[in-house]
Amino acid sequence: AAPAPFTERMPVPRVLEPERDGGLDRYRIPIRPGTAQILPGLQTPVYTYGPDFLAPVIRARTGRPVTVTFANLLDEVTNVHLHGGHVPAGMDGHPLDVIQPGAKRDYTYPNGQRASTLWFHSHAHMMEGEHTYKGLHGFYIIEDPVERGMGLPTGDYDVPILLRDAQFDAAGNLVFGNPALRTTVLANGKVQPYFPVEARKYRIRLLNAAVEGVFQLTLDGAPMVQIASDGGLLPAPVPRTDLTMCSGERVELVVDFGRCEPGSQVLLSDPTRGPVLRFDVGPRTGDDSRVPDRFRPLPVLPRATNTRDVVLSFDLSGPQPVGLVNGRPYDPNRVDFVIRRGTTEIWNVTNGDGAMGFLHDFHMHLTMFRVLDRTGAPMTPNDAGLKDTVLIPPGTTVRVQATFDGFLGRYAYHCHFMEHADVGMMAQMEIVP
Ligand code: C2O
Ligand code: CU
Repeated sequence: AAPAPFTERMPVPRVLEPERDGGLDRYRIPIRPGTAQILPGLQTPVYTYGPDFLAPVIRARTGRPVTVTFANLLDEVTNVHLHGGHVPAGMDGHPLDVIQPGAKRDYTYPNGQRASTLWFHSHAHMMEGEHTYKGLHGFYIIEDPVERGMGLPTGDYDVPILLRDAQFDAAGNLVFGNPALRTTVLANGKVQPYFPVEARKYRIRLLNAAVEGVFQLTLDGAPMVQIASDGGLLPAPVPRTDLTMCSGERVELVVDFGRCEPGSQVLLSDPTRGPVLRFDVGPRTGDDSRVPDRFRPLPVLPRATNTRDVVLSFDLSGPQPVGLVNGRPYDPNRVDFVIRRGTTEIWNVTNGDGAMGFLHDFHMHLTMFRVLDRTGAPMTPNDAGLKDTVLIPPGTTVRVQATFDGFLGRYAYHCHFMEHADVGMMAQMEIVP
C-alpha cells in the first residue's frame, strides 16, 4: 500500500564531488542491484547508480570535460546514454555498445554545449525500458558562466526533481507490465512526498524520466515561470499555468514561494494521477536571486538544405507489437540516413498511428533541434527553445530543424516511450565527413 500522502520528505539528489584530474573532472559510479524503501515497511528491489535509488547529480561545466567510470555490478549487460549530450558516437551508449557484467567503462563527455539539464539512463538493446524502470536514471547538469551571471537561484534553491512512473505489487516489487497501470508517480523516488521550502524563489528542474507517458502538471497556489527547456535557457522567461511533459523532456521553472503565505501549501499535480508533490512554504527569508527579463538568444537557425520524413508507427499484425520507423523495425546494424557533417535539415516527424490513437515521443541523439511547426495540432509552449524530445500526438506531424555538427558516426533517433523503442521504434543515422 502507498504511504499516506505527504508523510515522507522528498529527498534532493546529492551532488557528486569530482576528482579533479588535470583538465577534466573524474567520477566513478557503480551500476548495481539494490533495494529502496519506497513503500512503508517494504524493500523494493531496484537498480541504482551508486549506493542509493536516487542517483547522485553530476554538475558539469561548459568547456570542461567529464569522465565517468561506470562499473557494471549487475549480472547482465547494460550501458549509459547521456540524454541531450553532444558527445562522440563511441560515448553515446549505442544499444550494442555495452558494459559486460563485472566490467568497467569510461564515458568521456566534452560538455561543449550550453548550460542545460541533461540526464543519463540505460540504452542497452531491447532493455532500455526495463533497466531505466528499475532505477537507472539520473541528472547530469551543465552550468556555464553566462547563466551563472544571471542571478537565478542557486545552491539549496536549485532543486532537480525526477518524476517517473511506477506500479508496485503487494510485496513492493516494481511491476514492469502494462504502462497504463503504472499510475504511481515517484518524485525523487518517493510517493507523494512533501518538500519544505522557504518563502522565496526556487529554481526547479523537472525531468520526466518515465519509461512511457505524459505528465500534465499544474501548480496550485504559486505562479510557474518557465526559464528553460531540454537544451537550456529560453530567450526569455515564460509564465505557465500547466505543463505537458513527455518521457525524456525537461522543463525548468522559477517558482516564487515568496508570493505565498508562510505556512501555506502548494501542490504539484497531474489531473489523472493526482497530487505528485506538496511544497510546504516556510518563513520568508532573504532572497537576492532574480529572473532577468531576457536570458540569451537561441543560436541562429542556419538554412536547411535537406528534408526528411520520419514516420513512427506500430505493426500490430503479429503476436507481439512491433515498433517501426518508416515501416521498418530497428536493426542496430542498419543506417537509414547518411548525413554530411555540418548539414542542417528539416525532419517531418509523423505519428502514423492516428487511427489507433497511440502517442509517440520523438527523440534525436547528438543534437538539439528546434520545433518549427505542427500540423494537425497547435504548437505548445513546451515546443519552445532547444529541444531533444518532443510529443507527437496521433495523426500529427511535427517539423523539426537540426544541425548535425561536431562528431561523426552512428546515432539513434527513436520514440522515447522506451517500450516502443525496445520493440523496434528506433533507427539510426550516420554522420559522415
Ligand atoms: Cu533518453 Cu535514446 O534516449
Ligand atoms: Cu512511440
